[in-house]
Amino acid sequence: MVQKFVFGQPVDTEAVVNTRNVKTQEYIKPGKEGKLPHFSVKWGEKGEIILSCRMGGADIVYGLGENVRGINKRGWLYESNCSDDPNHSEEKRSLYGAHNFFILDGQRAGGSGHRFGVFADAAQKVTFDCGYTDSEELTVTAAEGGFVLYLLEDGSLREIVKDFRQLTGPSYLPPRWAFGYGQSRWGYQTADEVREIVRRHREGGLPLDSVYLDIDYMERYKDFTVDEEKFPDFPEFVKEMKAEHIHLVPIIDAGVKIEEGYPVYEEGLKNGYFCRREDGREFTGGVWPGRVHFPDVLNEEARKWFGDWYRVLLDQGIEGFWNDMNEPALFYEEEHLKEAQRKLSGADVDSMDIWGFFDFKGTALGIANRPEDYARMYHDMDGRKVCHERVHNLYGYYMTRAAAEAFERLRPDRRILMFSRSSCVGAHRYGGIWTGDNQSWWSHILLNLQMLPGLNMCGFLYCGADLGGFGSNTSEDLLLRWLELGIFTPLMRNHSALDTRPQEAYRFGRQEDFRNILRLRYGLLPYLYSEFMKAALNDGMLFQPLSFVYPEDGFAPRVEDQLMVGESLMIAPVYRQNAEGRYVYLPEEMKLYRFRSLDSMDVEILPAGHHYVNAALNEVLVFVRPDHLAPLSYGGEYAAAVDSSRLQLLHFIKTEAVYELYDDDGYTKHVELEGNMTKISVDQTGDITVKGARQPDCRLL
Ligand code: NOJ
Repeated sequence: MVQKFVFGQPVDTEAVVNTRNVKTQEYIKPGKEGKLPHFSVKWGEKGEIILSCRMGGADIVYGLGENVRGINKRGWLYESNCSDDPNHSEEKRSLYGAHNFFILDGQRAGGSGHRFGVFADAAQKVTFDCGYTDSEELTVTAAEGGFVLYLLEDGSLREIVKDFRQLTGPSYLPPRWAFGYGQSRWGYQTADEVREIVRRHREGGLPLDSVYLDIDYMERYKDFTVDEEKFPDFPEFVKEMKAEHIHLVPIIDAGVKIEEGYPVYEEGLKNGYFCRREDGREFTGGVWPGRVHFPDVLNEEARKWFGDWYRVLLDQGIEGFWNDMNEPALFYEEEHLKEAQRKLSGADVDSMDIWGFFDFKGTALGIANRPEDYARMYHDMDGRKVCHERVHNLYGYYMTRAAAEAFERLRPDRRILMFSRSSCVGAHRYGGIWTGDNQSWWSHILLNLQMLPGLNMCGFLYCGADLGGFGSNTSEDLLLRWLELGIFTPLMRNHSALDTRPQEAYRFGRQEDFRNILRLRYGLLPYLYSEFMKAALNDGMLFQPLSFVYPEDGFAPRVEDQLMVGESLMIAPVYRQNAEGRYVYLPEEMKLYRFRSLDSMDVEILPAGHHYVNAALNEVLVFVRPDHLAPLSYGGEYAAAVDSSRLQLLHFIKTEAVYELYDDDGYTKHVELEGNMTKISVDQTGDITVKGARQPDCRLL
């Protein structure tokens, strides 16, 4: 059952698209208490809405998407306030996304007995104090401006997620090639450099489907331009790469460079499509291109205009994009930069005491992403002037939406790859996300794993982290271990920052191991694609915490470093340096495939319970549930080379196992499950039966 509570006069985020299951609706006027199950209501002095609920000692909080810390969010204060922050350290409260959905699960020994989901549908800042201020209290605070609360009750954890996902609409579908491995790095400068990257992968037998173009492909960081000196005859180059089965994926930034003669700028200015200041002048910020204006993607006409610009690259053969800096990131806001400059140049260094020094330093370091500067920006929301502060969390979502709506107009028959850095619930219908500027730290492998279920709950199924780590210098073992997790994430991209240690797979000594791990990904592709598409089309999750699948298991909720991947598999990656194995918890008996490559593995059956499982640096642990199957291909150098007519089955048969394999052409937009399913059954004697859309030749592995 879904109940809706409207507080004050909220901005319509358009996150919710289907209110069929909403049973009751109540309006709560500012200052009024209203009657809410589970929560008490207070209005703060600044008009904020404060909802509090008591938690039992054993209650768990699942969800909140892209955030620091564990799968269980209990014990910390999280903030939805899309931020350009490259330090994903434990003390942070918000990253790039606003994923305001969580489930409070108190239905276990020592819990409150309640289980319900909460979606705080808001465009502005919301905080989730999950037992940080008071360990037994959960408080949701929405900044002034009103918001809508959806309360989802009844059912299992999975059912609550499904109800939520039906409310917010279907997840974005990428093309199948986007499940291949992608190589990226900030700093790839020329077409020849890209050719070299492809050549090294192909020569080394390292499968590859895409190379990402970061800001350097553009002419002075201007969106929808290509630097012709570095990338002469770009359409021809795109074609050449496609002939090698490589998709080039260019970045698009939110800020449009202010430059006379640059058509994006001139058109935007002429038509009034940029965000403004209160006095009506265009708002000017500083990002990579230097001084920029921001397209007012919250305005329908401007959104359409900006989206149509993607055509410039689509027409040159491009079939995928990543949207960046769209919180939007503000290295500086022009007026404030001038104020800061005046203050710093007026400082008297000779007479400065230590507090004066800290003030000086703070002024210099505090120029980027200031809340006060965001408050100086205004949108024209279809006739209504709205301060950016009120709608901050929508910007990345609407930039992605601008692109996706344009793709629908310009390429109605094909899935175009789109993923964004900033997002909000609702954006999951238009694109995937990557989790931004992580670091080459072991703890960030674990963080990558822990974010996945929360992201999936919020509908972000196509997601992944910068494998190998974006900031800091990677090491060979870190990259190998990270790839061993990355081979399961739909977006599998190695990306790193300018001036860090190069981390393409061919840079290191253990080439055989890199080759084997990447080939294993292509082996897993039929299963991953099938499970992804089923999750997307059924409003389900690809990555689930163990407790979602084993609700009766008392220990499963404590497992923070293993995940269920699709319906048949469990993974337990190694995320500590020099570890030669790890502890694994099995909620039931499982079969372990310890892969060294697609053709070399040990297989053993482990009973339910706790185990120390060996996993050398080149070994990937894959656990199969009883009476389950997972189809594997024989690999391929790129996604289109994966032959799905010949499959090998990971299996653990006790009585009989049936697997419903989804497959399609990999690019059609409007797909359905029916007509694309093949049922593969294996009985106790090992006999295999195949029925349905396709007739792959299957053998047991
Ligand atoms: C920030 C993005 O998060 C990162 O991935 C990218 O490499 C840089 N911007 C440069 O474009």
